[in-house]
Amino acid sequence: MIAKPAPKAAAKAAGVSGGAGVPQPAGGAGIPRHVAIIMDGNGRWAKKRFLPRIAGHRAGVEAVRRAVKAAPRIGIEVLTLYAFSSENWKRPADEVSDLMGLLKHYLQSEIDELHANDIRLKFIGDHSRLSADVVDLLRRAAERTAGNGAMTLVLALNYGSHDEMVRAVRGLIADGVRADEVTDAAIAARLDTADLPLPDLIIRTSGEQRLSNFLLWQAAYAELAFTDELWPDFNEASLQRLVDEFAQRERRYGGL
Ligand code: FPP
Repeated sequence: MIAKPAPKAAAKAAGVSGGAGVPQPAGGAGIPRHVAIIMDGNGRWAKKRFLPRIAGHRAGVEAVRRAVKAAPRIGIEVLTLYAFSSENWKRPADEVSDLMGLLKHYLQSEIDELHANDIRLKFIGDHSRLSADVVDLLRRAAERTAGNGAMTLVLALNYGSHDEMVRAVRGLIADGVRADEVTDAAIAARLDTADLPLPDLIIRTSGEQRLSNFLLWQAAYAELAFTDELWPDFNEASLQRLVDEFAQRERRYGGL
């Protein structure tokens, strides 16, 4: 069993920001409430070992398992993982199919343990392009774990920020929202992350320093952390070190 995070009750009491404005204060002792990770470097990890790319993605799933175990122990309330971007369809068909296969296998094999560990699953992105069996798996996993409170694990699947914003604007227009009613809060309420606190810390592995269409609206006041580690090498110590560094940063949200 994964230990329950210490600041859970306080976080529940603080509510969610709905993706508008600035992030709520971080959790106890400067622990980020919401950590989002761009998991990068699976291919390079495999290449270094003369292995096929799928071996890197498989090792990446092990790193996902480690991160999901470590995050609630550290006290993180929401962990968002960029599992498949809306641009990832441009990869060769067999790699796309491998990634979808790994995702399905992860959900099927981990759901019992995730549920037993009180983890709530949530999925963001446009799922209209995913196969019916994957969509069904996502729906069942989200429904089964909806009442869990130790941590929310958000998987971004066929997710891209521009696409998310386009869908939000279409929603506003479809609802007949007038121009003067279009506010920060009205937009945030239509994003996929509407019921989540804003990310406090966004991590990218593998030495690349860009956001690649990930949580662009939500990242307005997030701290960014880049590490040279390749995603399959990422472990609890890596996450703890970045959380500790986050706790040392001074966040001013535009003030003094
Ligand atoms: C980036 O590595 C990683 C991805 C595109 C996908 C991440 C997917 C997983 C970790 C596995 C499935 C996820 C879950 C949640 C079960 P890359 O291939 O771009 O690496 P490279 O830049 O070194 O080529």
